[in-house]
Amino acid sequence: MALILTCILFLSAFTTDAFEVMAPRKQNIAVYGEPAFLECSYPTSGDSPLNQLVVTWQREDNEVVHSFYYGSDQPDSQSQRYRNRTSLYLSQLLKGNASLRLDRVGPQDTGEYLCTVSNLEGTGKDVLHLQFAAYYKEPRVSIKTHAGSTSLLYETEGYPEAQVQWLTPQGRDLPHRTEALQQTNGSGLYTLKSLLVVDLNSDTDFAFILQNNVLNQTITRFVSFSQDGYGDSENNCDSLWKRLTIVLTVITALLLSVAGLICYLRRKKSDIGGGGRTDGRTL
Ligand SMILES: *[C@@H]1O[C@H](CO)[C@@H](O)[C@H](O)[C@H]1NC(C)=O
Ligand SMILES: *[C@@H]1O[C@H](CO)[C@@H](O)[C@H](O)[C@H]1NC(C)=O
Repeated sequence: MALILTCILFLSAFTTDAFEVMAPRKQNIAVYGEPAFLECSYPTSGDSPLNQLVVTWQREDNEVVHSFYYGSDQPDSQSQRYRNRTSLYLSQLLKGNASLRLDRVGPQDTGEYLCTVSNLEGTGKDVLHLQFAAYYKEPRVSIKTHAGSTSLLYETEGYPEAQVQWLTPQGRDLPHRTEALQQTNGSGLYTLKSLLVVDLNSDTDFAFILQNNVLNQTITRFVSFSQDGYGDSENNCDSLWKRLTIVLTVITALLLSVAGLICYLRRKKSDIGGGGRTDGRTL
């Protein structure tokens, strides 16, 4: 009797050991506006029926993200904030695939996720990390001039906080004021505002560089002030006149040279004709 018991204990210990649940990718990124896929697999001989399968996805503090047992999803045992956002791939479940799809991801979804699977063949678990991130949108630029001073402001949204640099064409770092405020309504994204006060006497070209390190995203935008067009509308008119004058001069020059070419060709043609007649007389 004791021997049989030992045997069973040994066997169950052995099967538990061999039953390896695995999250193949440990570091995952959940991108704003896209579903996130949390991969988890377990070994199966295909003999275990669906109603003997238990799949549980949990957060660090045992909060239930998704629960599956008795052959179906169990939304009642799920944490409220994951309601209607999670799904398993039912057709894949018996094939050893307990991957979870998470929709409408947000900053609160960043953290560790534990995947636990049990069936007649054993029990096992593995953990993975999810990091929420959002691509920064095309930044809006506004240029303000006031009492002789000029400032550039770039504004955009993303996640997490981005690194911002302002550079001159020579690669000199310019001091600026950048602030990132987390939006409290809904998305939880950061609104980033970066202000550069410029001295147009020393620099006229600027590069704004934003980096989201989680997504390897870099946005570079250039702003250039030209002395010519800079200033009030009268100056702009002036420079327009100058440009127009140049264009007109070029066109006139072109027309003259075309006319000259035509005259030259005509004269040459008549010269050749005259030459022929002269030859005729000589003969
Ligand atoms: C989930 O979806 C159901 C059905 O569409 C809806 O009645 C329920 O309010 C939703 N729950 C949450 C927390 O969004
Ligand atoms: C599990 O199924 C999903 C959906 O079909 C698929 O994208 C994923 O690659 C599968 N994972 C494994 C480990 O087979």
